[in-house]
Amino acid sequence: MPALLDTLHNDHKNYAVLLNLLDAEANKLEQGEEADFVRMYDIANYMVNYPDAYHHPHEELIFDVLGALEPECSADIRELNKEHKQLAATGLALKDAVNGVINGAIIPLDRILDNARAYIELLWKHMNMEEGNIFPKAISTLEDTEWQMINDKISQVEDPLFGDVVQTQFEKLYEGIIRSSDRSAAGSP
Ligand SMILES: [Fe+2]
Ligand SMILES: [Fe+2]
Repeated sequence: MPALLDTLHNDHKNYAVLLNLLDAEANKLEQGEEADFVRMYDIANYMVNYPDAYHHPHEELIFDVLGALEPECSADIRELNKEHKQLAATGLALKDAVNGVINGAIIPLDRILDNARAYIELLWKHMNMEEGNIFPKAISTLEDTEWQMINDKISQVEDPLFGDVVQTQFEKLYEGIIRSSDRSAAGSP
């Protein structure tokens, strides 16, 4: 697999972990329990600061080349590009709403729940389309020269949460991820 697709695929696995954590908080809200709003904020903050700024633009470089070579992919690519914008808007709305709650603003919890659910659903659908359809098509269609051309345009940025160094602002979320993976490895709920 081309190195860039390998990175994007690993990103997806990381986002799946975050979506599961976000889903757990959404379930608490739905059941009238107290959710961890700081965790929800950290997840939304990460999503708007890293995936929206790097992961999605890097995919769009691939989509541009693939769309030109394989016109039958154009409709799916248009949809994915549109979803990148929707994900950015929904992620930002979630981040702002949760930030409001943390800072004492009166925000209906139903709105946060709906927003979180919409984000989770859209990102899962989106990643499944990329992994199941567009990435395999890119592997079978793009040649080394095209991958090189794309690689020359990408920004080499360290992931602030899943990279070698965890940024201070994401340390708490990182600890939560480790704890939850320990729990699932131990087989507890
Ligand atoms: Fe994407
Ligand atoms: Fe993606």
